[in-house]
Amino acid sequence: MNNVKFMSGENIPLEMHKVRMVQKVNLLPVEDRLKAIENAGFNTFLLQNRDVFMDMLTDSGVNAMSQNQYAAMMRADDSYAGSETYYRLEEVLQDVFGMKYFLPAHQGRACENIIAQTLVKPGQVTIMNYHFTTTKAHITLNGGRVEEILTDEGFKIKSDLPFKGDLDLDKLRESIKRNGKENIAFVRIEAGTNLIGGQPVSMENMRQVSKICRDEGIRLVYDASLLGDNLYFIKVRDEAYKNVEIKEITREIASLMDVVYFSARKLGSARGGGILCSDEALFLKMRELVPLYEGFLTYGGMSVREMEALAVGLQETMDFDVINQTPIIVEALCNELLKNGVPVVTPPGGLGCHVDAMEFCDHIPQNLYPAGALAASIFIASGVRCMERGTMSEQRNEDGSEPLAEMELARIAVPRRVFTLSQVKYTADRINWLHQNRKLIGGLRFVEEPKMLRFFFGRLEPIGDWPQKLAKKFRADFGESL
Ligand code: F0G
Repeated sequence: MNNVKFMSGENIPLEMHKVRMVQKVNLLPVEDRLKAIENAGFNTFLLQNRDVFMDMLTDSGVNAMSQNQYAAMMRADDSYAGSETYYRLEEVLQDVFGMKYFLPAHQGRACENIIAQTLVKPGQVTIMNYHFTTTKAHITLNGGRVEEILTDEGFKIKSDLPFKGDLDLDKLRESIKRNGKENIAFVRIEAGTNLIGGQPVSMENMRQVSKICRDEGIRLVYDASLLGDNLYFIKVRDEAYKNVEIKEITREIASLMDVVYFSARKLGSARGGGILCSDEALFLKMRELVPLYEGFLTYGGMSVREMEALAVGLQETMDFDVINQTPIIVEALCNELLKNGVPVVTPPGGLGCHVDAMEFCDHIPQNLYPAGALAASIFIASGVRCMERGTMSEQRNEDGSEPLAEMELARIAVPRRVFTLSQVKYTADRINWLHQNRKLIGGLRFVEEPKMLRFFFGRLEPIGDWPQKLAKKFRADFGESL
């Protein structure tokens, strides 16, 4: 992607690739979209793809792959043990991260299972910029707890801070002092901090955190799932890295960490996951769990074809024209919305555009899930499937009380190299319409609420008949149009 100046003087994001394989999608009439979201219990996770126009639920496992990734899949060495594919992938990972040991896993949360089982003892704390849903679940499952030390500015919806994912160093020092270093399982940095709007972490901050951890003898774990986006932001937002190669930046980040893990559904645009470290004793301890939960060491639950695609995808991640695609589209989408007064997280991050449901739906109390209601409404208004990232995504406390999320966001993810600019403009248009009609949106309540990760399978119902009224207004405003 490149922002290219047009005759009008406008900078337009221009794709640096051509589309050579396509998939047909359907845009259903609004009445059918309403039926589909009703059948899905107003939970966008439960929609069927046949009813979805643009699937912007996530950037996970749905990125477009390159011709070289597909070509590599054809030479996969399918064997239970000792696969050539494994050694090729290991070599690429060692080269990209400069770390000695690699363990494969079937996806990011599988890495989290192995890391948490190995490093978290009951009663221990893990300190991080911000949690991710599956990360927190694995830590608590192993008897640990999570402390978040994002800077206060990171929680602000509107900000000019270029690296809102940074950890607050004073909070880190205070937490280490209060908990005692022997009670800290590890410190974790999440690249492109997902739940606060895909916000990056600065190199300087990682350097400082690493120094504190090394001085104290505390392990530092890096979740590199959103590394691609974070690399882009370091290059464009940190003057010191303007002329530094992406690979050099990657190596520098890895040199600060003790463990690096990632979801290859995001990083490398394939499907799978992996853990890297340089400490042999730790590697051997984690390795014991791989055959137990994942599969033999030389595939770890991944298809060898995906491993080949990942090896190529990781190398392509070192190409600025590849990793800049999503952040540039996200920025374009955010700007289209901001122009019309729609509240979004700023500065635009990676991963997707994050609409602030607390302001968009300021008439809906937080315990009636404004972000969930907004996600369902966006589907009714557009056929675009996005994701609730707010209170619905939180887990109830042991005593059954419900923690209210720090942020209520509807996340419109931008899978890498999948959608065109006209599709993105369509999305903005329908959300702008919805914003003008936002008072029609009402709250939701659970009718089926699973105990763990309730947002995946939970079913909800609207309070009142607001979805019908919304669909009716759409029909009145857009006439025959879809
Ligand atoms: N860490 C981060 C930062 C993630 O964003 C995810 C997944 C994971 C770990 C878990 O990886 O899905 O391969 O098991 N995020 C996806 C999302 C699901 O939609 O944001 P996984």
